[in-house]
Amino acid sequence: MELGPYVPLESTNCRLESFLGFGSFGYVFQGVNERGKVSAVKIIFVETSGRTPEEQEAEKHRLSREYKLIAGKKHDNLVEILKSTHKPFTVEDIQALLDIPCIQDRDDIRATLRYRLFQAEEKKQIPTLSIQMELCGKTLRHWLNINNEVDNPNLRSVRRNIVKDMYDGLKYLHLNKIIHRDFRPENIMFSFSSNGEEFEFPVKVGDFGLCRRVHSEYTVTETLTPFVGSVTYRAPETNFTDYSIPADLYSFGLVSWEILQVIKQKDTRSMFHRLVHDSQNHLVIGADWWFPRWAELIIQLTKRRVQDRIQGCEDRLLMGALRSEITVESHKQFSAIQDFLVPGYIVNINIKDKASKFYYFKVDHVTFNGVNALSLQHLSNVICDQMDIDGDGNQLINIETLHMGEAVGNSGFGISIWGDNNILESFKCCNILAKVMENHERSILRQSVDWEAFAQRFGPICIYLSKSSESCIIKNANLRNAFISGARHGLLDIECNNVIQINGLDHSTKNLDAVNLIDNSKRSLIRLDFYKN
Ligand SMILES: Nc1ncnc2c1ncn2[C@@H]1O[C@H](COP(=O)(O)OP(=O)(O)O)[C@@H](O)[C@H]1O
Ligand SMILES: [Mg+2]
Repeated sequence: MELGPYVPLESTNCRLESFLGFGSFGYVFQGVNERGKVSAVKIIFVETSGRTPEEQEAEKHRLSREYKLIAGKKHDNLVEILKSTHKPFTVEDIQALLDIPCIQDRDDIRATLRYRLFQAEEKKQIPTLSIQMELCGKTLRHWLNINNEVDNPNLRSVRRNIVKDMYDGLKYLHLNKIIHRDFRPENIMFSFSSNGEEFEFPVKVGDFGLCRRVHSEYTVTETLTPFVGSVTYRAPETNFTDYSIPADLYSFGLVSWEILQVIKQKDTRSMFHRLVHDSQNHLVIGADWWFPRWAELIIQLTKRRVQDRIQGCEDRLLMGALRSEITVESHKQFSAIQDFLVPGYIVNINIKDKASKFYYFKVDHVTFNGVNALSLQHLSNVICDQMDIDGDGNQLINIETLHMGEAVGNSGFGISIWGDNNILESFKCCNILAKVMENHERSILRQSVDWEAFAQRFGPICIYLSKSSESCIIKNANLRNAFISGARHGLLDIECNNVIQINGLDHSTKNLDAVNLIDNSKRSLIRLDFYKN
């Protein structure tokens, strides 16, 4: 990016370096402070022409009051407001904005800035509100322009996560008795990513320029201005002065519909009109496994009459549909969610088809829950071959793998775990190709080997805990081979009809029933109780 001369903004303690966007009220620039920390700065010129000084003062007050509502509120799914200040802009200040190189080809923006320059020349300076906020990536409108041209099934989980993030941000505002009043794709931002990714999660609700406080969820404290917000996404009751949280939910419903049903921007207005005013509910097509009940949800969020609409975040349909829980019933569906699970998700696995698959989940704090586990006859919920968990705090409950593997050599694992505090509970692995040792007496072997040699000797490994893993729990498992490394794991109620090799430090075991156990683990010399006094 071409950097221009820094424009000093004394009041926000930061200098502007490039142009980010232009909305209905302000110019948004990227700023950087003396320590190199980046932020976004929105500059709003207070309208002076045709206004008395008192009116200008009232406007300044109104603009900053709205931002003060949000300042200090912090949520992953809201653009954070850092500071806001009134500093009048002089002719020199505006000239410096005009000189920033990246707007040189933006005639539209330069024309509006020239008009401000003209005003400043007349009046010496223009009252201005500058709002410094967290720097974000691109807007949801940018994303939709790229991704709503064709329906790419691989993006389903992304669509679902966008809707969920937007809702979590909006819900936080509503719980704080704030209505947004301008909820639309232009005001939803992706996160800033230092590696240049334009559409990084989490998604954040931004542009609080029209926010207002509500006293209860049904009435507003003060008279609201009719007709605010964008026409396309605006609830019908906003034509009158009495509206509240359901008006935001209406806009949220339409934006969600546009995302989930892949509606092209040119079709939005007519589609929205037909759904809302002609009640053509059949336009909302299909609930699907990746977002159960969403069609019903969209219909209930976008009712024309406010009293027929979902009223607030405690609504059961809304809470139920946006719970972070999905059920996958095929390997195709299970693959589709691989890259987009986020912490907190519950994945119910009820896979009915038989396929040999390898899964890699780089996630934290996700629960994988086998719905029909441990019923090999029906082959339900069997994740064939291999599932790698690379992350912390995940739980795998009621999981069964049918780990074919190759009989010899590097055959992979049934389940392998590469992080800390993961729990594997009620697990069954049937790797039919594992060699059963000739000597089938319950013996304790001492020859420890690395996992490759182990697999060569005893066949495929059902559970592998890597050297880097710590404090994982394996509870109630039935398997042939296991290879345990790392530290401080808990192994409980395990039935192993072949070989378990345990390496590493400070594990605890209980009811470990293995035909052959190679225990190579150690206790650390400095015991924890040493520190107790
Ligand atoms: N925090 C931010 N980080 C990056 N870009 C931003 C940020 N805030 C706004 N933008 C860009 O500027 C545009 C206008 O910002 P917005 O807050 O919606 O202003 P307005 O009140 O004028 O509509 C947005 O659509 C977006 O492209
Ligand atoms: Mg905006």
